[in-house]
Amino acid sequence: MHEYTIQLLYGVAAVCFILALKWLSAVPTARRGVITGILGMLLAVVGTLLKPDLLQRGFGAYQWILVAFVIGTVIGVPMALMPMTAVPQRTALSHAFGALAAALVGAAHFFLESPHLSKFTMVALGLEVLLGFLTFTASLMAFGKLQEVLPQRPIVFKFQNIVNLSILTAAVAIAVFLVFDPGHKVLFLTMSGLALTFGVLLIIPIGGADMPTVISLLNSYAGLAAAAMGFVLDNKLLIIAGALDGSSGLILSIIMCKAMNRSFTNVLFGGFGQLQVASGKVEQRNVRSASPEEAAELLASATSVMVIPGYGMAVAQAQHKVRELFDQLGKRGINMRFAIHPVAGRMPGHMNVLLAEADIPYDKLMEMEDANPEMPQTDVALVIGANDVTNPAARHDKNSPIYGMPIIDTDKARTVMVIKRSMNPGFAGIENELYFMPQTLMLFGDAKSFVGEIVKSLGTPS
Ligand code: TAP
Repeated sequence: MHEYTIQLLYGVAAVCFILALKWLSAVPTARRGVITGILGMLLAVVGTLLKPDLLQRGFGAYQWILVAFVIGTVIGVPMALMPMTAVPQRTALSHAFGALAAALVGAAHFFLESPHLSKFTMVALGLEVLLGFLTFTASLMAFGKLQEVLPQRPIVFKFQNIVNLSILTAAVAIAVFLVFDPGHKVLFLTMSGLALTFGVLLIIPIGGADMPTVISLLNSYAGLAAAAMGFVLDNKLLIIAGALDGSSGLILSIIMCKAMNRSFTNVLFGGFGQLQVASGKVEQRNVRSASPEEAAELLASATSVMVIPGYGMAVAQAQHKVRELFDQLGKRGINMRFAIHPVAGRMPGHMNVLLAEADIPYDKLMEMEDANPEMPQTDVALVIGANDVTNPAARHDKNSPIYGMPIIDTDKARTVMVIKRSMNPGFAGIENELYFMPQTLMLFGDAKSFVGEIVKSLGTPS
């Protein structure tokens, strides 16, 4: 195919990627965004497969691509079938493979072209290989921690920062040396080894709790590695796609840090998520609990209900029962809405996706900033499997690890009901003051079955 047509395909693919990102940022257009992204990727792959130099070489050039395609499919299909709750670790795996691909392409380019590589190419190639290899092992470690194959707790040792910094400095120094003298294959291998080691060391001191933010940061590294690969291969589409990936990953990490009121330094070196449950002296404070029938009665006598969903709703897959509750209360003229915290669950947009799956109308979903002023006028705040995002300690307890994190002002509602299975803490590992407040009723049980019981009660005429 003519080079001009390929550039045209690449141009359309780039536009698809940009539109995909734009549409993905709002629930009503997200599906369109996914399809546009897939279309963009398809055009990019087809354009690349039809490049004149590949076509000229005939089947011989395609047979290895076919092998890679089969291997990719065998790995990719089961990954796509991982449950929603495992999306953060699934994403980590995608980054690991993307980064590995970039690093291997860089390494292949080096061994094929060395020592005839220009300084510019070597700068890009060094960046590609360094970022690619370190992101590969770092993402695998992040996957291991989230999947609980590896210990979630931070692993720290003496002089850790000095060791890490020395390894990184050595790797970068070799990369710089290779820019001026690209003939040293052993040095190249040493640099790759150091980058792989650094990836592991970068992640082990970070607690499992911070992995979703770290994964988003690694997304940005993998994107930058791909952009650098674009410079090495002189492929403009790779530069655009890598830059979009790199910047969106970075923006997402910034949004997540902001929503948790954390800084990057705090995420990377804070040891957040280490067990903070006061061992031994577990509080003996009393809580009030209620049955599904009592909860149903309270809901039936309300005029406004605000649901605060969290990670527990995702674990229990309670969204369809929540939809039934929404229908039941709607029939009675009760206004049930949803207050969505930006980091409720384990990934950005987690709650939105689940509620959309259950066909809850979008206009019933309120962002935290819009929901909070409504809380004092709300009759019942119904917390379903959320914990940290409702903890009032974030507002006033300077010693709390979540101090400063914006929360849903659940405690300001007239009555609060919390569905969860026990008094166990949530992600941050701390007790929630909300449960001990006089207006709070604990509804102990699995979110799906408890909401189901409430729906049953509401459906039974009293
Ligand atoms: P969490 O604070 O993690 O609390 C979830 C609660 O759900 C737990 O206390 C648990 O209590 C309950 N639960 C679990 N399984 C349940 C089930 N089957 N039925 C009923 N309840 C169940 O969740 P959250 O309020 O959504 O807060 C999210 C946390 O994740 C925040 O700390 C946030 O900073 C962190 N985080 C989020 C993200 C993103 S992007 N979303 C990224 C990084 C970190 P029981 O065990 O007693 O049932």
